[in-house]
Amino acid sequence: MRDFLKRLPKVELHLHIEGSLEPELMFALARRNGVELPFASVEEVRAAYDFQDLPSFLELYYRGMSVLKRAEDFHDLAMDYFRRAHAEGVVHVEMHFDPQAHLARGIELDVVMEGLSLARREAERELGMSTALIMAFLRDRPADEAMKVLESAAPYWEMLDAVGLDSAERGHPPSKFTEVFQRAKMLGIPRVAHAGEEGPPDYIREALDLLDVCRVDHGVRCLEDPDLVARLRDEAIVLTVCPLSNVRLKVVERIEDHPLPQLLDAGLRLTINSDDPAYFGGGMLDNFVACHDAFGWSKETFIQLAGTAIEDAFMSDARRLELHRQLAESA
Ligand code: ADE
Ligand code: ZN
Repeated sequence: MRDFLKRLPKVELHLHIEGSLEPELMFALARRNGVELPFASVEEVRAAYDFQDLPSFLELYYRGMSVLKRAEDFHDLAMDYFRRAHAEGVVHVEMHFDPQAHLARGIELDVVMEGLSLARREAERELGMSTALIMAFLRDRPADEAMKVLESAAPYWEMLDAVGLDSAERGHPPSKFTEVFQRAKMLGIPRVAHAGEEGPPDYIREALDLLDVCRVDHGVRCLEDPDLVARLRDEAIVLTVCPLSNVRLKVVERIEDHPLPQLLDAGLRLTINSDDPAYFGGGMLDNFVACHDAFGWSKETFIQLAGTAIEDAFMSDARRLELHRQLAESA
């Protein structure tokens, strides 16, 4: 089964590129940039991956990215991930990035965009991989700051496949960002948002009603609200589910307790994703294998999940057709 899951052309719709920073690269970049890390070794960093919840992870996530200073660093970060993902049979990656986390450290958007753009072109050329870019706003920071970031990103609007909403969810409902997302809509930029990871089902409703998102990142807590589940099914909204992330951040205790089978039974459109693979114990293939081991899903189920990701990805029609063909051949 592992061979089959590796061969399956996998499309990743939910990845934070800063969350793909492996400790080895963290140390290499710290050395290159003269940044002091609060860890003595790679092993010490990994030992700190013992999270209680989303905020406790985010603390380490924001600290880790302090080694990213120059365009070259963002390039190396993304290429390091693209190469690993490619080796696991990932054919398309949609990456969130957090400009505010970098601006707060004095790193301008131009630097981030230059590095990521270079890596995207290289991934296409050298790995035959397509990518998409999602500029995420930090929901635990003020909405007017997000609005300023959106306006200052004007030179890059055309390069953004979507805007997103991430960081600490509880106490920061989507409604806080209604105006920002309205502005993005006016600009013709598609919208996605994390909702229902740690936050209540109402946050998912708000993301749909107020932010007009085309898909929901995580969304697993929708099951607490049967009317919402029915709506997500009727409106064919895709959830980007991240099983290993949910275990590591204690959204569920064990993978066997994950609500993925119930979500599938409810007729929802689901995809499997890695979220922050460096921190959560595995990439796309590990997430697929973990689902197989926990739920015993058939090849057909995985083909269905991979197909949904292709259908919902930000990519050209030609690329979509090509990947649907690849998927049919892998079966
Ligand atoms: N930023 C990076 N990873 C995240 C996650 N899993 N949830 C919310 N914000 C994040
Ligand atoms: Zn996420």
